[in-house]
Amino acid sequence: MSNLPFARHRRLRTSNQLRDLVRETKLHTEDLIYPIFVLEQPGQKNEVASMPGVYQVSLDFLLDEVKEVVNLGIRSIILFGVPEEKDDVGSEAYNDEGVVQKATRIVKEQYPDLVVVADTCLCQYTSHGHCGVIKDQFVDNDETLPLLVETAVSQAKAGADVIAPSNMMDGFVIEIRKGLDQAGFENIPIMSYAVKYASAFYGPFRDAAHSTPQFGDRKTYQMDPANRLEAHREAESDVEQGADFLIVKPALSYLDIMRELKDRYNQPIVAYNVSGEYSLIKAAAQNGWVDEREIVLEKVTSMKRAGADLIITYFAKDIAKWIKE
Ligand code: PBG
Repeated sequence: MSNLPFARHRRLRTSNQLRDLVRETKLHTEDLIYPIFVLEQPGQKNEVASMPGVYQVSLDFLLDEVKEVVNLGIRSIILFGVPEEKDDVGSEAYNDEGVVQKATRIVKEQYPDLVVVADTCLCQYTSHGHCGVIKDQFVDNDETLPLLVETAVSQAKAGADVIAPSNMMDGFVIEIRKGLDQAGFENIPIMSYAVKYASAFYGPFRDAAHSTPQFGDRKTYQMDPANRLEAHREAESDVEQGADFLIVKPALSYLDIMRELKDRYNQPIVAYNVSGEYSLIKAAAQNGWVDEREIVLEKVTSMKRAGADLIITYFAKDIAKWIKE
């Protein structure tokens, strides 16, 4: 053995207590946002086939679900509407009596302190399943914008605390900001899906939300997974336009992007741990191939380590339980 000292990194790993003391990244229940799919048809609580443990609930079952979430200490939910009626222009998205508007009122009346985030998009509401108005087989950006603004204002009127536009039209942040301000909602923040990739990880969500495109795909508006600089262009323009939060979606394959955004911008960064990321773990866990608890905690800890301040995740209830234990 030489006399040269070498670093004994293992010194700080010798006990649970020491490891706890030097842990750099910690998870808190307040970091979690739980997604809920709300069905318009009454009397339903349906488990999503590709997402075991996740349910679509109708308005009459919604409060049971929310109560469970609140009792676990989760402070925030994001609502996705599954409407009965669809049309070419997604009218139900901006109907003041639409499913998300009703759901928001029901939740806020019972739980005024729970933060309700409204996902602002048209894909669940359009008959063709695209996130905007179609013109010559193409999603028309500028014709879609006013409908998004109407949707956001209608959601804010219903009591939503945060507006989360997810449809990747250019200019949605500024247009929604102006619309909210004009309607007197200047204090309602915008959580922009700033960086949203055209991802195969959304498959199970589209089953749950009935939002699979009826032709083509979303590659003319969602981003190419190969691109990193484009993520900066997207984030930069959303920040300029007044976004209060920046979402990176999906989460796990895009931790590099999350880190870069965290380092470059001052907005809170939100990781969207999407449906496919949930389903992969669930399937493996159900087969006994991986330890679900360990793997989920490792996964969400990685997102926080990569710079996420908040995490939208279908595992939120489980994580909240594990944190309590
Ligand atoms: C809507 C939207 C999507 C998700 C949330 N909002 C996906 C899509 O483009 O189909 C996906 C969420 C998930 O997979 O969990 N535009």
